Amino acid sequence: MSRTDNEGLREETLRKHEEFLLPSVSNYYSEPIVLTSGDGTKLTDSEGREYLDFFGGILTVSVGQCNERVNDPVKVQLDRLGHVSTLYPTLPIVELAERMARITPGRLQKSMFTASGTEADETAVALAQVFTGSIELIALRHGYSGRSMLAQSLTAHSPWRAVPTQIAGIKHGLAPYCYRCPLKQTYPECGVACATDLEELIQTTTTGKVAGFIAEPIQGVGGFVTPPKEYFEIAVDIVRAHGGVFICDEVQTGFGRTGGKMFGIEHWGVEPDIMTMAKGVANGMPMGVTIATPEIADAFQDLQISTFGGNPISCAAANATIGLIEEDDLKSNAEAQGNLLRSGLEDLQSKYPKIVGDVRGMGLMQAMEMVVDETIQDRTPNPAATGAFFEACKERGLLLGKGGLHGNVLRIAPALTVTAPEIQTALDMMGEALASISS
Ligand SMILES: Cc1ncc(COP(=O)(O)O)c(C=O)c1O
Repeated sequence: MSRTDNEGLREETLRKHEEFLLPSVSNYYSEPIVLTSGDGTKLTDSEGREYLDFFGGILTVSVGQCNERVNDPVKVQLDRLGHVSTLYPTLPIVELAERMARITPGRLQKSMFTASGTEADETAVALAQVFTGSIELIALRHGYSGRSMLAQSLTAHSPWRAVPTQIAGIKHGLAPYCYRCPLKQTYPECGVACATDLEELIQTTTTGKVAGFIAEPIQGVGGFVTPPKEYFEIAVDIVRAHGGVFICDEVQTGFGRTGGKMFGIEHWGVEPDIMTMAKGVANGMPMGVTIATPEIADAFQDLQISTFGGNPISCAAANATIGLIEEDDLKSNAEAQGNLLRSGLEDLQSKYPKIVGDVRGMGLMQAMEMVVDETIQDRTPNPAATGAFFEACKERGLLLGKGGLHGNVLRIAPALTVTAPEIQTALDMMGEALASISS
């Protein structure tokens, strides 16, 4: 079959996907899109239709599709040295490790590179357990850590905990989810009770000594749940008083995404003991990073290998991506465009107050939570309206993400290179889509 005009490509791709991939690898949209090329925030499908990409391959294409300032050094590296494994030191891996130590907050210094966020979190937990000599872990409800057995056990979303055999010793604290406060209180009168509750959680459900607390500055898969400003200081103090370290999962929030700062946790003024990263670090090349303070890193002397971890090509992509984010000050662009996006979403909320229950997030990590009727006390989640809106945006040429426990949260996260006109175009399309599903 000729591929010049892409004739039949869509049907063939969908047929093969159904026949040869696990059904649990599900696609977005009632009629999935077969994407064939990209340029910045634009994507093109097999039928030649263009889309504005406001999800970036799950917050991963941080500096836009096919960015030549990332791709050119990757191509040079590919032609020079492709793979050696972690058994040999290379210039790209040590350059990246040095860069990580420089850009991460506090005393974080020594890194291990893997190929995914799941592995980054696995590595972090192992470090915390070896360093503290404790096993038990505190995670948060609505959090997401990945797809290994440990990561599924840390994850607190039943749809993502597919395998019933879970790892013991993990307790889940209350999420700092103000819109759906688990304690039915209101911030700030609540005194951030979801954070102070960690004290009782540790005292009543663990041995009283924990290895660590793993949390995302903004819960990504959970629907961009954004904690109040006091949350992390209170929570981390409690965990440290019980011997645990703070593992900050920056897989979604890292590298300028939250606007104004390189890492999400910097907005909360707390220094992590261990930090994990993936997704946006290498603009789509596989890369997981775990960085720790020297004493935690040095406590772990047993052998570790990651065949693909820190391979020269992914390291070249990460070095170029981070370099570009710094050189072009994209964290400031994320703040400026994020403010524009946020005020546009709030305008939409005031126009459709019944179904747009909450608008939240930071920088270019903004969410709209859809409900059946905001004026009714229980704020019943509205996955049907979310799905209809999602499809209506696609019809107009805008790709978004979905999340939240009930699948009723729109996740909006374009590349950090996004421009003001692109934000306006996306807001116009979202406005039309909301009008279409409300009529
Ligand atoms: C916060 C967080 N941690 C860990 C992961 C796991 O990353 P990966 O899918 O690269 O294994 C994800 C993935 O969505 C994530 O959002």
